[in-house]
Amino acid sequence: MSIAVQFSNVSKHYPYYHHLSGGLKHFLFNFPKYLREIRKQKFTALESISFTIKKGESVAIIGKNGSGKSTTLGMIAGVLKPNNGDVMVNGRVSPLLELGGGFHPELTGAENIRLNGVLLGLSRKQVAEKFEQIVAFSELGQFIDHPIRTYSSGMMARLAFSVVANLNPEILLIDEILAVGDAGFQKKCLEKMKSYKTQGVTIILVTHSAHDVQFLCDRCIWIDNHKIRADGPTSEVLPEYTKFFGS
Ligand SMILES: Nc1ncnc2c1ncn2[C@@H]1O[C@H](COP(=O)(O)OP(=O)(O)OP(=O)(O)O)[C@@H](O)[C@H]1O
Ligand SMILES: [Mg+2]
Repeated sequence: MSIAVQFSNVSKHYPYYHHLSGGLKHFLFNFPKYLREIRKQKFTALESISFTIKKGESVAIIGKNGSGKSTTLGMIAGVLKPNNGDVMVNGRVSPLLELGGGFHPELTGAENIRLNGVLLGLSRKQVAEKFEQIVAFSELGQFIDHPIRTYSSGMMARLAFSVVANLNPEILLIDEILAVGDAGFQKKCLEKMKSYKTQGVTIILVTHSAHDVQFLCDRCIWIDNHKIRADGPTSEVLPEYTKFFGS
């Protein structure tokens, strides 16, 4: 089967939070009414979206802040469940969703590598075989033996990317994490992903960098107003998207 990810009429709602404009006293006196309203109100982040990503495709998910890109990746990774519709994923997902997600702050970089390798579904032996390669790729040197609560955000990104990218991903999900890395590391990550692309790994990238999209992705899915506004070749969708921002 050549399908890696398929969304069929997927909707995702979040509870709608609104502040207590009438003050706490008003809230308490009208508690049952508030409760009814809160239960009733929901915010639709994504409304009935459908797309299919084939194995080996490299796809960018683009859209303005709050448009639902991370929500989409979260559902592919299985950390979020859709309220309606079906999400089908065929293959092992290696997600890089948020900085430090899945990492333990008190453990050292080295300990986190071992922990995350196992969490990603590899055996201890498989992780041990790749350990040196991961450390070398991260270029963290002696800091690999420091607890990661002492890491800068760029150092965290280095560790996270090195783990995920050196453990034979099948479906690689990357959410904006490269942005905090320095120029040298960004370039190295993009080249690593490009080599995975040529090896047929499925890559799904969320980024605000038009350069990265152009470098890596053949296809763009543009999410806007809770729906897919455009889905097609990068050469067509990306210029439309940048025009939308007036640049
Ligand atoms: N846990 C949550 N609870 C309530 N609302 C949420 C939650 N997570 C996301 N949302 C809302 O869903 C919408 C989509 O959020 P999402 O994080 O998917 O956007 P995004 O496209 O990744 O944005 P960005 O470019 O800023 O990362 C936003 O309006 C956001 O406020
Ligand atoms: Mg996001």
